[in-house]
Amino acid sequence: MNRIIATDRIHADRRDWRNLRQMLPYLSEFRGRALLAIACLVLAKVANVGVPLVLKDIVDALGTTPTGVLVLPLSLLLAYGVLKLSASLFNELRDVVFARVRYRAMRRLSTRVLDHLHRLALRDHLERRSGAVSRDLERGTRSVSTILNYVVFSVLPVLVEFALVAVLLLNQYAPTFVLIVFGTVVVYFVFTFAITEWRMDYRHRMNRLDSEANSQAFDSLTNYETVKYFGNERMELERYDGTLADWEEMAVKSQTSMSLLNFGQGAIIAIGVTLVMAFAADGVVSGQMSIGDLVLVNALMLQLFIPLGFLGIVYRQIKYALADMDLVFKLLERTPEIADAPGARPLVQRGGEIRFEQVHFHYQPTRPILKGIDLRIAPGQTIAVVGHSGAGKSTLARLLFRFYDVTGGRILIDGQDLREVTLESLRNAIGIVPQDTVLFNETIEYNLAYGRPRARREEIERAAEMAHIRDFIESLPDGWQTRVGERGLKLSGGEKQRVAIARAILKRPRILIFDEATSSLDSHTEQAIQRTLEEVAANHTTLVIAHRLSTVVGADQILVMDHGTIHEQGTHRSLLAAAGHYAAMWELQQREQSTVSPAEPRNMAAEDRP
Ligand SMILES: Nc1ncnc2c1ncn2[C@@H]1O[C@H](COP(=O)(O)OP(=O)(O)OP(=O)(O)O)[C@@H](O)[C@H]1O
Ligand SMILES: [Mg+2]
Repeated sequence: MNRIIATDRIHADRRDWRNLRQMLPYLSEFRGRALLAIACLVLAKVANVGVPLVLKDIVDALGTTPTGVLVLPLSLLLAYGVLKLSASLFNELRDVVFARVRYRAMRRLSTRVLDHLHRLALRDHLERRSGAVSRDLERGTRSVSTILNYVVFSVLPVLVEFALVAVLLLNQYAPTFVLIVFGTVVVYFVFTFAITEWRMDYRHRMNRLDSEANSQAFDSLTNYETVKYFGNERMELERYDGTLADWEEMAVKSQTSMSLLNFGQGAIIAIGVTLVMAFAADGVVSGQMSIGDLVLVNALMLQLFIPLGFLGIVYRQIKYALADMDLVFKLLERTPEIADAPGARPLVQRGGEIRFEQVHFHYQPTRPILKGIDLRIAPGQTIAVVGHSGAGKSTLARLLFRFYDVTGGRILIDGQDLREVTLESLRNAIGIVPQDTVLFNETIEYNLAYGRPRARREEIERAAEMAHIRDFIESLPDGWQTRVGERGLKLSGGEKQRVAIARAILKRPRILIFDEATSSLDSHTEQAIQRTLEEVAANHTTLVIAHRLSTVVGADQILVMDHGTIHEQGTHRSLLAAAGHYAAMWELQQREQSTVSPAEPRNMAAEDRP
């Protein structure tokens, strides 16, 4: 058991060093500045150590006037003041000079992480909890700042100061002093490191529980409406509180162990200082040292230990920061499942022909979703895919966008395998009105223009008009500047859908996918939009996915999907004539339509009352 922990620790240490090395490139951008900051740091410390030296001379000068008349050692006092001032000046200069290095490193890392998160495949995103991701991201980038800060502002200064003090003591006094001072330092360090290592486990667990609690709270708030629908507030609270209870346990343990640590450190320092003072006082009594020497040794010792008391905290903070940083670098190490193949070329667009050849696909190996799909959409044609819920229709669209790779067979656009072209060019070529539209928490204008951020105002308005949403937008009190709320929740389903249609139109791709593009619209609006969609689709290769068969009657080909295969295929007319699955579905939907729609009472009368 112990051995496992030990190897774990070695492993963690090795990772820490590697993570620190990985941080270096972020600093190299301002190498000159970083060096300048270090120069300021050394100067500040030299001035700092100079202060007690001058103090000693002042004390001695005051004590040794032969006449008994005290003379003010003016130049010494002046030097004292100047040294104090420069210590503080160089300290501040160091901070100012280093600020840019540090914040730039944070900025670069944050951007890189977001970029990487975007590169990771959809699968990774569905598996991760976004609340936890954003906290990891935040803590991770903050950790970079913490580490830089502490190294430059605490660790390095202390090391420089140690070196200076050691030289000074060795030069002027008995080696006993160096022995006691640095002996105390060593004991202090060893004690601090040992206890801190032991405490880290609590802290880690505390962090993990903290993330978990946050992600639970985040989750329950994103599902606000669902929670209310089912009246499960109490359950949500209990779950959250349960996690917080564990967190509380760990936090209390963490605090208790910290107090132990702090007290131990205080005790070591107290013993060290007492010993030094005893030796110095003895030196003064026996005439080997002056009063000034006693003052100097005391001042140096205190000066050394003030930041040392701090160093315990610094060591802990650096350890935590390293743990946080590890999360970020682990995230960065995840290789994206879907990425450009080596030597991938931009998609060469011709007519926009799509071919699925014996496509097999599963999300999890144990559950095949597509089992050998063959389909061809000729350039400019419209193909409709219908089938029961869960048949794998939206999966076709996801595969076409290459959110996942097929597990068998291949998909070609204009004769090029999707896996051999660049993702950017592929995704540029396709426009989609997805089954569930999610909007950015921004204005309507922003969301609509998202289809082509460089589009001109007239083009945006035209697209809105084609999607039958312009009048609605302009009727709003804030018009185009209306904010749509989190995920677009302030718009109705149909309004969101029309925004999605408008931005797909605006994108002007060769290939269009409409995944239940009109499912949330009332029949009247649907009919109006249907015409627009047909117009837009006229010179595009189009894949239409729909439940309502009335929206696909005009398609060049209709495919009926069932259990991962294509069950039937043909035009509306030929499928009806075949009197198979499609014909049965059509029959059923026609009947439903007439039962629910009061607009057609005659049908109802005819069919429901034999
Ligand atoms: N990320 C995923 N991981 C695992 N299974 C998934 C995932 N996404 C979808 N599925 C499963 O794959 C099957 C096909 O899903 P798909 O979204 O393609 O269905 P669909 O035909 O579009 O259905 P609907 O008409 O309800 O939109 C479903 O049974 C679904 O549960
Ligand atoms: Mg679907």
